[in-house]
Amino acid sequence: MWEWLLSPIDAQRAHDVGFAVSWHARSMVLAWGVIAPLAVIIARYFKVLPGQDWPRVLDVQLWWQVHWKGQVLVVVLSAIGLVLVLPPDLSQMSLHNGLGYGVLAGLAVQVLLGIFRGTKGGPSAPAPDGSLHGDHYDMTLWRRVFEALHKAIGYGVLLLAAVTILLGLWKANAPNWMWVMLALWWPALVIVFISLQRRGMAVDTYQAIWGPDPDLPGNRLSHPGWGVRRDGPSQERKDVRHSRRHGI
Ligand code: HEM
Ligand code: HEM
Repeated sequence: MWEWLLSPIDAQRAHDVGFAVSWHARSMVLAWGVIAPLAVIIARYFKVLPGQDWPRVLDVQLWWQVHWKGQVLVVVLSAIGLVLVLPPDLSQMSLHNGLGYGVLAGLAVQVLLGIFRGTKGGPSAPAPDGSLHGDHYDMTLWRRVFEALHKAIGYGVLLLAAVTILLGLWKANAPNWMWVMLALWWPALVIVFISLQRRGMAVDTYQAIWGPDPDLPGNRLSHPGWGVRRDGPSQERKDVRHSRRHGI
């Protein structure tokens, strides 16, 4: 059993990787197999924390801190991983190398989108003239484009990275235990993703920050995206309106 786990997947080839390739693989797997997907899970499912008295308590920014700091760590680890296997040998351009550059390009786009996502606005971040306007508070066209692009490219890059990791393992003829670890880890992530989704924890960013009041500019817009929870006015407030309307 141990012998099998330690032996390379393809017995015909040696698992003979030097310092550079082994550290390239370690830093890329840590970045793309572990940190990037966890930073996405926290951004999707922990905008409102379990036990948080939402909507009395709004805008808990733990998800935001972990998301962007985690992704900056992904940038640092990817840069280290890349430098280790440079300079490029164009005569040896394999599918792994090509997709690897694709992942890094996607990473650059994601970081740029994140940096240029626009202003926040609202009571806690008013514009310099004191008005509440901001790209996010008003859900301007740019904010909606940002959310749609950042999500689509983000999930696409995660999938591309998974394929790239598998191709990298094959290229380096990695030992069986590494494949086994990933075959346990990735399904575990998918199960976590599905169960948090089922619990209704993917709260709309807008409502996590400013609450469900239907008079807020962003709450008058159409639905915020696939599987994202947006609450209507609470039952309590519906009752108040109902009684006002009927003079009760
Ligand atoms: C998403 C994660 C990964 C990314 C983005 C990535 C990216 C890259 C890139 C861009 C190159 C080409 C560098 C050049 O032009 O010389 C490369 C080469 C390589 N990668 Fe990866 N990689 C990843 C994961 C892995 C893993 C997990 C392994 C092995 C277990 C691996 C093994 C290799 C090998 C053996 C080379 C060739 C190095 C050489 O030619 O000296 N990579 N990778
Ligand atoms: C450090 C730069 C980054 C910043 C400032 C940033 C910012 C954000 C923000 C503000 C959101 C919430 C969007 C919303 O309201 O729906 C978000 C979500 C997301 N980010 Fe990033 N991000 C960064 C890097 C990345 C990277 C590198 C990836 C690639 C894997 C990524 C993937 C995602 C995904 C998939 C979501 C949506 C999760 C969901 O709700 O389904 N982000 N990011």
